[in-house]
Amino acid sequence: MRVTFCCTDTNAQPWLDGLRAALPGAQIELWAPGASPADYAVVWAPPQAFVDAQTALKGIFNIGAGVDALMKLRLPSGVPVVRLDDAGMSVQMAEYVCHAVIRHFREFDAYEADVADGKWSYRKPRMRADFPVGVMGLGVLGERVALALKQFDFPVLGWSRSAKTVGGVQCFSGTDGLDDFLAASRILVCLLPLTPETDSILNRRHLTRLLPGAYLINVARGGHVVDDDLLALIDSGHLAGATLDVFRQEPLPPEHPFWKHPKIKVTPHTSARTLRAESIAQIAGKIQALHGGAAIASIAGIVDIKKGY
Ligand code: NAP
Ligand code: GLV
Repeated sequence: MRVTFCCTDTNAQPWLDGLRAALPGAQIELWAPGASPADYAVVWAPPQAFVDAQTALKGIFNIGAGVDALMKLRLPSGVPVVRLDDAGMSVQMAEYVCHAVIRHFREFDAYEADVADGKWSYRKPRMRADFPVGVMGLGVLGERVALALKQFDFPVLGWSRSAKTVGGVQCFSGTDGLDDFLAASRILVCLLPLTPETDSILNRRHLTRLLPGAYLINVARGGHVVDDDLLALIDSGHLAGATLDVFRQEPLPPEHPFWKHPKIKVTPHTSARTLRAESIAQIAGKIQALHGGAAIASIAGIVDIKKGY
């Protein structure tokens, strides 16, 4: 069995070592132009030339949860595309989002600023009931985040494409459910995949539907946000601010207004990192399963190419 590795912005050697240890007997190589076609590909944002050179593929494994970069390519038809299914990401996402929600709700930034000024000051406690949190996307990551927020007694709402039931979470679905979901949310967490349907979904129209004083946490993709709409709504006071982990252009260009905006917190696409050991174990297990003849439907994380996630 031949496995080729082609991951942009990734230190390849530890992945190759890990995959070789997990798949003894397989020929595992870093892709270079001219290499022989492989049976399985392990990828992150590969170039089209890589895909075009793969004429014998039986599976494409993405070393992240989001497949938006892959979906922009012409992929061989009928070859299963498999994304990471959690692999240690959902707990990181729950940590990040709960931290951002609690920092905002408990006004920790304001306390920090007071302390820096040597002030011993109190703020009136805020009520959780006034801070319903809406989670857009109730998939592997969104559901875990919604349930983690419930543990802190926030009212939690969720929105997905298909109807869902998640314990203690008020669930909405489809385009018909979007306006009601937004109108009942004060903190909005985006955990949608980036697809033609969700591109620029965090725009003026949708953000204006949120309860006054709303707060945005985007941990999905920068392409979900219309940057100028977000800035205008924060500056007008309709939104209290935002925590942003992902951007249309990454790294975020030095001149971008998000960097220095006093009501925007920026992190460098780090809310849920690919954990190498977990991911190698997951991908190697699935390669072995597929190679052994397992049904594609039995593999967790198969991408529905038509839906784009
Ligand atoms: P997932 O399991 O595929 O979940 C996606 C969720 O979004 C599903 O609930 C899906 O609804 C919903 N959805 C998709 N299109 C929709 C639409 N048009 N309208 C309403 N709901 C829609 O994905 P995941 O593993 O949770 O990951 C979500 C995203 O997080 C990834 O695609 C990636 O971009 C991002 N991510 C970011 C980081 C980071 O570090 N910042 C790390 C990992 C992932 P259904 O359930 O009905 O299909
Ligand atoms: C990271 O952003 C991922 O999609 O895994």
